Amino acid sequence: MEIIVLSDPAAVGRHAARLIADTLAGKPDPVLGVATGSSPLATYAELAALVHNGLDLSRASAFALDEYVGLAPAHPEAYHSVIHRTVTVPLGLDPARVHVPNGAAADLRAACADYEAAIEAAGGIDVQLLGIGANGHIGFNEPGSSLGSRTRVKTLAPRTRRDNARFFGGEAEAVPVHCLTQGIGTILRAHSVLLVATGESKAAAVAAMVEGPLGAFCPASALQLHERATVVVDEAAASSLRDREYYDFARDNAPKGAFDLD
Ligand code: F6R
Repeated sequence: MEIIVLSDPAAVGRHAARLIADTLAGKPDPVLGVATGSSPLATYAELAALVHNGLDLSRASAFALDEYVGLAPAHPEAYHSVIHRTVTVPLGLDPARVHVPNGAAADLRAACADYEAAIEAAGGIDVQLLGIGANGHIGFNEPGSSLGSRTRVKTLAPRTRRDNARFFGGEAEAVPVHCLTQGIGTILRAHSVLLVATGESKAAAVAAMVEGPLGAFCPASALQLHERATVVVDEAAASSLRDREYYDFARDNAPKGAFDLD
């Protein structure tokens, strides 16, 4: 893992957007994995600025990590809507190339299998952008998720429903109980992964992901197995890391090209 600690959330967004742009540059049909939630918003805003200045993502495909079960796609908090608002429109993506798991499907298992097949058919994800839950989840792979899991139905953790209540009028009870999520095994198949985290509330999860034992209790720790995992965090989210000195030293002395996300 490459750990990049930056001063504040704005710097995290700028750096992450630049890494994504560099990764996708020159690919005729780039494939971007996208997350919802608050963490990636600064990255999307910076990517939108790059698009405004000439980055062309009109041929890019995008795959969302997850979707709530039981919300109509047009519900403002359904990830279909959230991705359209925060990613598809500002980044100038072709809506026909933007995929979100179908949480409104009559057959959810078939919808999950279709989603895996669609990722495969696109040639896999070039760079998967991730946030991290305060409980260490990635996507909606809650603690205890199989490290080999693929896209499937999951039950959200009570902590996640409380954390996401802010999107549902402050009511944890209004947050759906179930979701479809790419599995940890699905995420690990992305050619590269880029996790962004900001704020003190993520410090313990970031430390467990980077420095804790590999295990299902901290699903994000599975990224320790990925060959090309970059973690970009602000000072607050980095505040529980024990080996900060090394991460900064390694960043400042990176062999040229060693961490290119190509
Ligand atoms: C979102 C997702 C989640 C979030 C995580 C952090 O698609 O899959 O893993 O990335 O819950 O959420 P925020 O960024 O809102 O703190």
